[in-house]
Amino acid sequence: MSAPKYHLTSYGCQMNKLDSELVESRLRQRGYVAATSEADADVVLLNTCSVRQHAEDRVWSKLGTLRVRKRGQPGLVVGVLGCMAQEHQRYLLSRMPHVDLVVGPSAFGDIDQKVDAARAQNARIAAEREPARTKHEVAGAGVVAVGDGVSGDRIVRDVRVRPHRSQAYVSVMRGCNMPCTYCIVPTTRGDEVSRPLADLVEEAQRLCDDGVTEITLLGQTVNAYGRDLKGEHATLARLLRALHEIPALRRLAFITSHPNFLNQELIDTLAELPKLARYLHLPAQSGSNVVLKAMRRGYTVERYLARLEQLREKAPDIELHSDFIVGYPGETAAEFERTVDLVQQVGFAQSYVFKYSPRPGTLAAELADDVPEAEKERRNAVLLAAQEAITARQLGALVGQTLEVLGEGESKVDGRLSGRTVHHRLVHFDSRDAGVVGQYVPVRITAALGHSLVGERLADDAAEAGAHDRVEVQPS
Ligand code: SAH
Ligand code: SF4
Ligand code: F3S
Repeated sequence: MSAPKYHLTSYGCQMNKLDSELVESRLRQRGYVAATSEADADVVLLNTCSVRQHAEDRVWSKLGTLRVRKRGQPGLVVGVLGCMAQEHQRYLLSRMPHVDLVVGPSAFGDIDQKVDAARAQNARIAAEREPARTKHEVAGAGVVAVGDGVSGDRIVRDVRVRPHRSQAYVSVMRGCNMPCTYCIVPTTRGDEVSRPLADLVEEAQRLCDDGVTEITLLGQTVNAYGRDLKGEHATLARLLRALHEIPALRRLAFITSHPNFLNQELIDTLAELPKLARYLHLPAQSGSNVVLKAMRRGYTVERYLARLEQLREKAPDIELHSDFIVGYPGETAAEFERTVDLVQQVGFAQSYVFKYSPRPGTLAAELADDVPEAEKERRNAVLLAAQEAITARQLGALVGQTLEVLGEGESKVDGRLSGRTVHHRLVHFDSRDAGVVGQYVPVRITAALGHSLVGERLADDAAEAGAHDRVEVQPS
């Protein structure tokens, strides 16, 4: 019999994508192979996100399609993994008999066994041509498991399973302990749990032994790393210093930082360590103190700006990225304008803008969602336009410069490859030499697009000759 085929789609954040890599690694170790398309798969897994209604709607709609497909293919296994599995376990189990597996984000440790069990069960159903089972029968079969306490982190990571040869993500902590009123993540991901520093260094070393040269550390509040590790004195700064020692590592980044934990130790580290990527994702969420207070973010605009001042004093080349929510309950047009002001004042390199989406069970969901959709739309468009103007100006200023780019793969722009600079700027460059994927190459920037740059790859010696105008080149 041929190997069973799986198809796994990630609907969520970077952490959700890394979880998908871990799930894939488990399945492959058990003999599953990746299907060429979802239609060709015996097992369809959706790794889901609950952060906004839109993310959930995509999954509900996909589950509708899979329900129809399963009528003609009763052996098909459908699994809902991740944050929606945690958030909607009851509904999925009671109302969606075509869903075989519901596995929350902290229960991926034995996902391969769960999938096997679901396949065996469905094979029987298919053989007997029984109608779809009810929730209790499925749950009783022991196939369904939500948050059974097996931490995904304890899976010994198969470092060979990863989408990019030279880049990898490493999750340094799970969960979140912050009280942001609008956010579902603490519910779906649970309490903050940091992984021991030595384990992280070991995992990074194994990744680098396998060809990785760029690592991005992941945590919902990554710069709070270690505060739950009693007696270890583990901090993000210490972790960065330890990882910096790995000779093969060339770039090291971390997302997402919380403004409250941007302390002097981290700022000094950002200033000192040459391998650290020169950007910081530091979501402000709003530029209004009234809204920040209502969100319980724990800082004021003035405090946010004061931290940036400290950062710029020591590490002026760090570029800032932010997230913003527009249309939070009670946000007035004037309060929203303060957010536009903040974007203008800081000059973020990029911002993600989200329309407020009430998440059942959060504190904010108890408030009236009183900013009309059309007004949320308007604020969204205004803020995006403000950010895009800044981005265009910054990108335009890079035209003519030669930047070091880590080749990532085929570009969306025809016939080109793409890669990123040390500031995380996306560059499309005119090389058909797939050998540059995973290599650091000098690229002369010839044009700026809305969110990215276009350039020509230079021969390495040409870059040396023009070294004086290189602004983003790292010491190697
Ligand atoms: N831990 C990170 C990000 C978590 S979720 C942080 O604290 O910055 C990513 C982004 O989604 C958030 O920064 C926020 O801007 C947005 N977001 C979270 N909940 C939301 C909601 N209910 N509606 C709209 N946007 C939301
Ligand atoms: Fe959500 Fe706030 Fe935690 Fe970020 S810090 S994940 S926004 S609760
Ligand atoms: Fe979404 Fe869960 Fe990430 S809710 S943003 S997939 S932590």
